Amino acid sequence: MQDKGHARAEEEGASGGRAEFLRRAPFTGDGGRLWLVASSRGTASSSSRRSFDEEGETADMEEKQEPPKLPRAEQPGYRGSVGSEIEDSRKNHNSDSDSGGSAAFPSSDGSSREKAWVHTFLNLLLPPTVFIGLVVTFPFVIFAKYVNRLFKSFRRENLKNHVVVITGASSGIGEELAYKYAKRGTKLVLSARRAEKLNQVAERARSMGAADAFVIPCDVTSEEDCKSLIEQAVNHFGHLDHVVLNAGVANSFFLSEATDTKGFPVVLDTDFWGNVWPAYYALPYLRSTKGRLVVIASVASWLNYPRQSFYNASKAAMLQFFDTLRAEVRGEIDVTIAMPGWTESEITEGKFISADGDARKDQDIRDAQVGPFPVLTRDACAEAIVSAAEHNRRYVIVPFWYLSFLPIRLWVPEFQDWLFRILVLPRGRSPPLSKAIVDKLGRKTFYPSSVQKKE
Ligand SMILES: NC(=O)c1ccc[n+]([C@@H]2O[C@H](COP(=O)([O-])OP(=O)(O)OC[C@H]3O[C@@H](n4cnc5c(N)ncnc54)[C@H](OP(=O)(O)O)[C@@H]3O)[C@@H](O)[C@H]2O)c1
Repeated sequence: MQDKGHARAEEEGASGGRAEFLRRAPFTGDGGRLWLVASSRGTASSSSRRSFDEEGETADMEEKQEPPKLPRAEQPGYRGSVGSEIEDSRKNHNSDSDSGGSAAFPSSDGSSREKAWVHTFLNLLLPPTVFIGLVVTFPFVIFAKYVNRLFKSFRRENLKNHVVVITGASSGIGEELAYKYAKRGTKLVLSARRAEKLNQVAERARSMGAADAFVIPCDVTSEEDCKSLIEQAVNHFGHLDHVVLNAGVANSFFLSEATDTKGFPVVLDTDFWGNVWPAYYALPYLRSTKGRLVVIASVASWLNYPRQSFYNASKAAMLQFFDTLRAEVRGEIDVTIAMPGWTESEITEGKFISADGDARKDQDIRDAQVGPFPVLTRDACAEAIVSAAEHNRRYVIVPFWYLSFLPIRLWVPEFQDWLFRILVLPRGRSPPLSKAIVDKLGRKTFYPSSVQKKE
């Protein structure tokens, strides 16, 4: 139960300091709890009264005689949304008490019954209709998608002399993306924190055909750095065509291992905000060239693989954020979202954020985390991503077989939970099954040689 001080703070917050009598009443119709908003002049329903009795607050409520001042939301003619919610709620509340109340719902007047009926109707109608619709139209939709894909494959964006900004270009997928773009004759802006590594990548990119390669060190967790990255890129090359949002880190620890919360924001600061800031500052420039955002999310956007709760959350947030942004900027900026599975990089070499928020390389942890999932070469991953971008695809899942987990997640999430739990959770004193499989069959069975080197 919430303490009274907390409840009072919420009362004040809800009416702008002039505490209308907001009371908390538990309803147990569906096992959940509802908030009842009631004026002290009103009468509480029998159900709410009973509930308050249980929580020992009835006397408090009933003895309050002083009529409260009317907040603005209650004044005649006020049409604000909060006001109408309060009014609706009071109508429901009053009519509920008039009619004797209901144990399950705060109101049983006609309008409320009608609303409940609409939802019952939609609950019964929509899911089976959509399911049958999906089954019936499945072959046609797949056919239409393939025709569309074929059509798009003939229309390739010519990237020569395009200006491409890549974040996280000092290693892994970002470094390889730089080479793939370089081979297409682009002008590159390479960014990450390690300037020395970026200079090496820039030199190699020039030797591979990049029209130019400009290095801008930047920490994507700093909004100022991200703003400056975009401004420096535009000052140097005059415009932007592609912005590749790739910088990222991954955690590998169980939440219960953390002794404090200091390290918690690290992954979301990098993988979510570190992609939002550059995207935001690049928008006006990308609008003027009808450019593209290439977003490196992950299959973790929909997999609930243990030990990486923050990573999964950040990638799910990225997917939703950039899908929404795509809808907002439709016709002005294109968005390609890449969702790679485990890929050759510093992450799959074992570089993970630990419970204290620091990055460490540990190949035993990598074996437990990645387990028997075969690691894709970064060459294959980066080629698929750049190809999807130049063919104006919305999504690219690489390797494609990870898509199988999506219907499993939607249809039988229990199976996915079970599979990941038996793979990743410790088994008493024995290592998790994922690591035991890698130990038994050897790292080289699953991982490219580059990620097997000693840390
Ligand atoms: N490898 C996989 O299995 C896999 C699978 C799916 C998705 N992804 C995604 O692919 C992207 C690239 O990761 P990767 O696998 O190639 O790992 P990686 O080799 O560790 O590369 C990560 C890159 O991000 C940069 N970075 C990290 N924190 C940064 C910060 N605060 N500011 C600026 N740059 C930062 C790193 O450069 P500095 O350290 O020099 O700053 C590095 O260039 C990430 O978004 C990752 O989530 C990877």
